[in-house]
Amino acid sequence: MSSIYRRSDENQRASALFSRVTKADIARWVSNEVNRAVDILRAGGLVAFPTETVYGLGADAQNEAAVRRIFAVKGRPASHPVIVHLGSASQLQTWTRSVPSIAHTLARRFWPGPLTLVLKRSAVVSDLITGGQDTVGLRVPANPMAQQLLTAFGGGIAAPSANRYGRVSPTTAEDVRTELGDLVELILDGGPSEVGVESTIVDLSSGSPALLRPGGISAEDLERVIGQPMSTAPASVIRAPGMQAAHYAPLARILLADSSRLASLAERERRKGHSVVVLSPGMPSLPNGIAHIRVPEALEEYARVLYRTLREVDRRRFDVAIAQSPPLTGLGLAIQDRLTRAAAANFDQEP
Ligand code: TXA
Ligand code: MG
Repeated sequence: MSSIYRRSDENQRASALFSRVTKADIARWVSNEVNRAVDILRAGGLVAFPTETVYGLGADAQNEAAVRRIFAVKGRPASHPVIVHLGSASQLQTWTRSVPSIAHTLARRFWPGPLTLVLKRSAVVSDLITGGQDTVGLRVPANPMAQQLLTAFGGGIAAPSANRYGRVSPTTAEDVRTELGDLVELILDGGPSEVGVESTIVDLSSGSPALLRPGGISAEDLERVIGQPMSTAPASVIRAPGMQAAHYAPLARILLADSSRLASLAERERRKGHSVVVLSPGMPSLPNGIAHIRVPEALEEYARVLYRTLREVDRRRFDVAIAQSPPLTGLGLAIQDRLTRAAAANFDQEP
């Protein structure tokens, strides 16, 4: 079935290129696709869909069998919680049993958008979603196709990023196809993700707000609204796959370095017989035989292309990628976080 969907998808896109397509035609096509997605979700199937951060692998959050399939398809351990996506903040009451006023404030300011709030769960939330914890992660995504899907579906959609466990998150429909192929019934194509890194996760379930994962909304922007610095929770109390030391990993070995050390590290790796690429915003002078991929200096743009760049490193079959550490302001914190975890994933290969 999925291949039929996909073929019809591609036909639609091809004809869009070659004929005069009006805005109304595109709107009709999108709403057909969204309706098809809703039917699949209601029948307990899986739908990959675009969000502004990365593509999600969605299932009806109230259908346990469907949520179980997410874990099977991703190869993800069952103890890890999944974010529930909602069409609007007005649905918060259904999924939580207490909403502190700071949650309303953050939702008003940042939803729809790349922010996930961790709150005390209500009785409708299954243990499968929460990994057995007493809290649930909730987010209202901003991507228009995600919005249409959530509005038409009406309920919550449980969705982790649509990649295999531990791997680089997908930022295009094509990435999802490469990662998951026929394992999902439908992949909604909403173009490349605008933010490019996952949502920022803030825990509001106890005491003061804690930053669980840096992401698409900067810690500075959040703290301005919260009115105080956030704590960062100790890793031991967090059950979050994106929080594990090794995650978001390409096949190549990733090393992080300051700009002054890029050339010497690259030379050291090249001498060991590895094919090496350096990822940096400038044009450093590098020894012969070292490739370079220029990444954007502006951190929001860098975040947008970060995962695409890591996928390119693998496509070009480099053994080692040496990434220049970004400044730790704005989206730099999320970029550094993902690069560090990608680096940790194969750190044990380091001699
Ligand atoms: O931007 C995003 O957040 C994307 C898009 C698809 O929405 N989703 C995403 O999902 O990144 P995933 O499963 O790859 O990462 C979700 C993170 C995990 O680290 C998970 O453990 C954490 O959210 N999380 C979910 N519920 C939680 C909870 N109740 N307490 C603590 N962490 C939670
Ligand atoms: Mg993920």
